[in-house]
Amino acid sequence: MRLNVAALAATTVCCLAGIAFAQMATPAEQIRPVSPVAADDRQAVPVTPATRIFVLAEMRTMLAAAQGVAEAAGKHDFKAVAAAARTSGLKAFEGMPKQIMMELPEDFRGLGRQSHMSFDAIAQAADSGSDATVVSAKLGEALQFCVACHEAYRFTPKK
Ligand code: HEC
Repeated sequence: MRLNVAALAATTVCCLAGIAFAQMATPAEQIRPVSPVAADDRQAVPVTPATRIFVLAEMRTMLAAAQGVAEAAGKHDFKAVAAAARTSGLKAFEGMPKQIMMELPEDFRGLGRQSHMSFDAIAQAADSGSDATVVSAKLGEALQFCVACHEAYRFTPKK
């Protein structure tokens, strides 16, 4: 996990909530630049179209959840924080079909599980009357799993 949690959280909250650029506190050197070299050394995970569609839909749900958490935290609406986080908690994904699970490598599934658990942790923090700073830090922790997995894996069509 290369990124500083607090900085990541601050950046996310600021970006997603649309708060002025001037408030962002992430030092530029902590953000990995996009390589101009067209090489993709991430591990290829061969998946069927059905699995790809299912997992990418899950991804978009998690992105929306992160957006909802950041926006609600900015408004100090902790009920809305918890509700947004739970859309991506473990429970929301326990019905994943077995064939889909079987196509994904074990480490990949582990990271997926951890990212869902980290959304549950956000919901719990929001439930227990916490403040926006705590929610922001928890969101930063959750986003580290997105970053880690996206850096490690990519999907390819299964032959
Ligand atoms: C266990 C691994 C893993 C985790 C954790 C993960 N992702 Fe992904 N995500 C992927 C893969 C693999 C792709 C497809 C990338 C590719 O093939 O180039 C993807 C694609 C996406 C996409 C594109 C969706 C589309 O419709 O094309 C979004 C958005 C996304 N992820 C958001 C997130 C967010 C937000 C999180 C964390 C809250 C997250 N992901 C966590 C593996 C992961």
